Amino acid sequence: MKKVDKNDYKIDKNIKIAIIGLGYVGLPLARLFATKYSVIGFDINESRIASLKSGTDTTLEVDDVTLQKVLVNNSSQNTGLYCTSSLDDLAACNYFIITVPTPVDKNNRPDLTPLYKSSESVGKILKKGDIVIYESTVYPGVTEEQCVPVLEKVSGLKFNEDFFAGYSPERINPGDKEHTVEKILKVTSGSTLEIGLKVDALYKSVITAGTHLAPSIKVAEAAKVIENSQRDINIAFVNELAKIFNLMGIDTQEVLTAAATKWNFLPFKPGLVGGHCIGVDPYYLAQRAQEFGYHPEIILAGRRLNDSMGEYVASQIVKLMIKKGISVNGANLLMLGITFKENCPDVRNTKIVDVVKALKEYGIIVTIFDPIANANDVKKEYNLITINNIPDDKFDAIVLGVAHAEFLELNFSELQKEDSLIYDVKGVLGAIADNRL
Ligand SMILES: NC(=O)c1ccc[n+]([C@@H]2O[C@H](COP(=O)([O-])OP(=O)(O)OC[C@H]3O[C@@H](n4cnc5c(N)ncnc54)[C@H](O)[C@@H]3O)[C@@H](O)[C@H]2O)c1
Repeated sequence: MKKVDKNDYKIDKNIKIAIIGLGYVGLPLARLFATKYSVIGFDINESRIASLKSGTDTTLEVDDVTLQKVLVNNSSQNTGLYCTSSLDDLAACNYFIITVPTPVDKNNRPDLTPLYKSSESVGKILKKGDIVIYESTVYPGVTEEQCVPVLEKVSGLKFNEDFFAGYSPERINPGDKEHTVEKILKVTSGSTLEIGLKVDALYKSVITAGTHLAPSIKVAEAAKVIENSQRDINIAFVNELAKIFNLMGIDTQEVLTAAATKWNFLPFKPGLVGGHCIGVDPYYLAQRAQEFGYHPEIILAGRRLNDSMGEYVASQIVKLMIKKGISVNGANLLMLGITFKENCPDVRNTKIVDVVKALKEYGIIVTIFDPIANANDVKKEYNLITINNIPDDKFDAIVLGVAHAEFLELNFSELQKEDSLIYDVKGVLGAIADNRL
């Protein structure tokens, strides 16, 4: 067996990297690699490519100045990011990094269509010696058992002889300007020992926080999916606590603050679990477990509990309105925030929609104000109207649903009717709020 020397795995600065899927994960990664290598960013969404080429990232993950610094007009430069919707532009690349979505279908089953489609695309241009690295969150086995066969079939090349694979899960936290991609330690892996070292060296060359080379692709896939599943379960636990303490008339946040004084108490907060990571990834793990004949109890219980929180929050708000003597039917309520998390414009799988739907069923008139959500996306996805500017009206109830920085600066008294309710889903308003989750 050939002796492996880690120092053999210095990355040639003349490589070309293709990033497939320029969304929340793909773009920051492409931007980072582009500071050192020639990067071709590919996306099937032509309007996304057009806005990136004009120097704007609508996901707000990469600011315009930083983006414009790396953008180049053609794919032949030694460094820089060239964005395209044409697959032919990727033909000269040696590394293909796939960062496409991994959603669930309406029955919460993994939908691997974007992974199959992007693997087909890469298969068409794959050459001998190329490495295809997947970053999308999946269950263990997807890379080698689902994606690699597509690459083999379309390219006619043989896996681990002609071309190779890697898996390096993304751990970014959208809207978080502190933990940016280069500052998050990256787990890496490869389809052979040598390819693992090569993939690791590639990421190590740009990730300042360093890397952890996992012993296999399946280990790396499993590590990512359990990170998010663990978070989901922990939030479900505190959501259950919130339900219990609300019945007892005890303030959950005060309990959590007291408990957190113990060195090993985990500081999770109750809340709505939306988006397309934490609320979705546990279903990937659960599905795979079921295929092996194991029915996951805790993972799915966590999902059920977290998915029911929207309706629960709405019922709490209505009870508190009644207690305050506010006439519920026909009341005007201001919902602050519609995105799935703070300071991020992503509205996919946002659980605020569940709260709004339940409030409307009680006859409440809901005005949604979100300064960073795209109103067209909200209309298209949920058939709801969102306003981007502070309304002039006064409201019977105000609900802080998302903790956007802008909301913390609001003058609530200008928005309140006399004796109105302020309900704080995120527990960030302090004494302004009458109640919090
Ligand atoms: N957003 C996050 O917080 C986050 C964090 C860590 C991991 N992840 C994982 O990373 C993956 C990508 O997530 P995201 O948030 O960047 O998604 P996203 O929807 O923001 O971006 C995906 C991009 O891929 C493009 N795309 C879809 N199919 C394609 C195809 N066949 N070929 C080329 N491009 C295609 C889309 O047009 C889109 O621009 C998912 O698996 C997700 O679970 C996301």
